[in-house]
Amino acid sequence: MSGTFSRRAAVLGAAALPIIQVLKGQSKSRPVVISSANRNDGGVNCCAKAAEVIKAGGDTLDAVIAGVNIVELDPRDNSVGYGGLPNEDGVVQLDASCIHGPTRRMGAVGAIEGIKTPSKVAKLVMEQTDHMMLVGAGALKFAKAMGFQEENLLTEESRIAWIAWKMSLRDRNGHTNWGPGLDAPPEKQKAAVLQELKGMFPDAADDVLAQAWEYAIHPPHGTINCISLNEKGEMSAVTTTSGMAWKIPGRCGDSPIIGGGLWLDQDVGGAGSTGRGEENLRVCGAHTVVENMKHGMPPKDAILDTLKRVSRNFNDDKKRLAAVELDFYALRKDGEYAAGSLWQGSRFAVSTGDAASHTEQSVYLYERSRA
Ligand code: GLY
Repeated sequence: MSGTFSRRAAVLGAAALPIIQVLKGQSKSRPVVISSANRNDGGVNCCAKAAEVIKAGGDTLDAVIAGVNIVELDPRDNSVGYGGLPNEDGVVQLDASCIHGPTRRMGAVGAIEGIKTPSKVAKLVMEQTDHMMLVGAGALKFAKAMGFQEENLLTEESRIAWIAWKMSLRDRNGHTNWGPGLDAPPEKQKAAVLQELKGMFPDAADDVLAQAWEYAIHPPHGTINCISLNEKGEMSAVTTTSGMAWKIPGRCGDSPIIGGGLWLDQDVGGAGSTGRGEENLRVCGAHTVVENMKHGMPPKDAILDTLKRVSRNFNDDKKRLAAVELDFYALRKDGEYAAGSLWQGSRFAVSTGDAASHTEQSVYLYERSRA
């Protein structure tokens, strides 16, 4: 959470000035890229790539999109792009949005199928059309017209996880249509399900089957958000995801919603989100974080205030909130940054040019009780 703003503001007695006035007075910025951490060093690699593009004089939006493309194309990250966990029909549907600070333009796609890099399609919606968002079949048609190749995005690992989820579905008597016979079979324990999966997928590794069962029982949220700032003070941001695992076909989360999963005001800074999109949308999270910064809060406080609004929607009931995973990322125009999660334990990726791209700890609202 480094940066120059707080120290300078205090020294100059500028804390009482509106944030825009203070930030406009600054000269050269230190380039900074932040992103969600993501598995397999996805966030670290994303930030390193984006920083490299910026260092070479590239545009800040090209930079963040080149960064998240690494994760979109990585089949091992099953929360983003190719290899994402599918919807309840077994079809991968992707959401993405992007914002170009200098031109104040934005683009998004929702529930797009068959395209590995939805962030690039969102950018083309921004650049080539008079619209801001395309969804479903229309988004795919547009992508194909722009030269994208339609491909099967469902990897074998994600298909196994989907089958495991189908097998886990039971009615109130514990019956599953995947069980033997018409009379309700006895409740299957994890070991029995894993054995059954092994029979169905003899070539799959044991850890792939165990992970599939975990995903079936606890559907994960993933997503990557990335925000950049160059030396000229220009900023851009992108969010891209395969959304909630096993969702109803057509469900869009917060990632393609400008102001929800992504917001950026070139005069102030940018913010984005990962985690359960429905709870973020109930507080217009990314927009709220940036507005908080606009009114003087440092990124850390801007995020914590937004998380408090999420908590308030549950009357601060931690038992119900235990099921909510939600993280915000914020980068201010002067280079100060932070990430924050509802529950302790998150990290995020950063590249400042001073050090190799790395992860840092997020601030948090609540600690999980050890009981
Ligand atoms: N934040 C990703 C989603 O809920 O779809």
